[in-house]
Amino acid sequence: MRIGILTGGGDCPGLNAVIRAVVVAGAVRHGDSAVGFVDGWKGAIEGQVTDLDPERCRDILAHGGTILGTSRTNPFATEDGPDKVLATVRSLGIDAVVAVGGDDTLGAADKLHQRGLAVVGVPKTIDNDLAGTEVTFGFDTAVQIATEAIDRLQTTAESHHRVMVCEVMGRHVGHIAVHAGMAGGAAEILIPEVPFSIDAVCDRLTRRHNGGRYFSTVVVAEGAQPLEEAESDGVGRIGSATDQFGHPRLGGIGAYVAAEIEQRTGYESRVTVLGHIQRGGTPSAFDRVLATRFGAEALAAVHDGDFGKMVALRSGRIERIPISEATGTPRTVDLHLYRDVAGPYLG
Ligand code: F6P
Repeated sequence: MRIGILTGGGDCPGLNAVIRAVVVAGAVRHGDSAVGFVDGWKGAIEGQVTDLDPERCRDILAHGGTILGTSRTNPFATEDGPDKVLATVRSLGIDAVVAVGGDDTLGAADKLHQRGLAVVGVPKTIDNDLAGTEVTFGFDTAVQIATEAIDRLQTTAESHHRVMVCEVMGRHVGHIAVHAGMAGGAAEILIPEVPFSIDAVCDRLTRRHNGGRYFSTVVVAEGAQPLEEAESDGVGRIGSATDQFGHPRLGGIGAYVAAEIEQRTGYESRVTVLGHIQRGGTPSAFDRVLATRFGAEALAAVHDGDFGKMVALRSGRIERIPISEATGTPRTVDLHLYRDVAGPYLG
C-alpha cells in the first residue's frame, strides 16, 4: 500500500516515533511505501509531499518535533480545502492517510472521512485533552519538564522567601498543571476547569506563610481564569490573534496572578512562563513507547481497511475507536484528583 502521513497542530515529543513506526514497520512487514505531507493539512491541500523510507526514519525516534513540519491549517477554513485534499491523495496514488494530531487535526480527519478519505487518526497533544484515550503521547514529557522547573523554582523561592508563579500550557484543561503541580509539591494549582478566586488564593497563601512556610510555588495553567474576571474579556489573553480553528493565543495569566499576590499579600512574587519549552526536545521513554504502539496500531488499522478510526490507550491496551468519539469535547481534569487527592497536600 501507499500511505500518506501528516502531523498537524502544535508539535509534540513523540511525533517522529509515530512516523518511524508506520514507515519502517509498513515497509518491512508489508512492503508499503510512504510519503509525508509537509506541514499537516497544508501539505495535503497544496500537494506538498516528501518521500519517506526506512532509511530516513530509522534514527528519528529520540528527536523532538516532527520531521514533516506542522501547521494549524484547517482544510474546512480553506477555499475548496476538502476537495483539494482528496485530489492530492488521488493524484499521488495514496491508498490511506495516517493523520497525527489533536482535536482540530482529527476533527478535520473525521469530516474528510465522511467525504470518502481513507484515514486513520493518531492522538497527540501535550495538553492530554483528547477524549477517548486515557493519555496522549507528549504529555508525559511535558509533565517531566514542568516538574523539573517547579523543583528548581521551589529552591529559589525558599532562599528568597518569595512566591514563585509558574505558568504552564493548558488551553482548555489543567492536566499538566495538576500533574506537575502535584509532583513538584506546589502550594496552589490553578486550572481552566475551576475558575479561581484570587482573594481565596491570597488567603490560603497568607495562612501558609503565617504558619511558618515562608515561600510558595503557584502553578497556573495558561487557560485558568479568575472568578472575578471570568465574565469579562479574559485577562489571560494577549492580542486578538486567532488561528484557523478560532483559538486565541493565550498568555499573561501567570503575570496577573503574581502581581495580584504581591499587591494583596505583600509577599515578593515572580513569574516564570514555561511556554514552548514544554513542547520541544526529546520525548520521554514512556512517550516513545506509546507513540510507537500508536503507530503500529494505526498501520494495522490501515491494512484492515478500518478507516475513520483513532487509536487509543484504554486500560493499558491500544484499541481503535471512531474518531468522532475523541473530538469535539475536551477530556477535562478529574475533579476528585484535583480537589481530594492534590488538594489536601497543597499549602
Ligand atoms: O498544543 C496545544 C498547546 O500546547 C496549548 O496548550 C497552547 O495554548 C498552544 O499549544 C500554543 O501553541 P502555539 O503557540 O504553537 O500556537
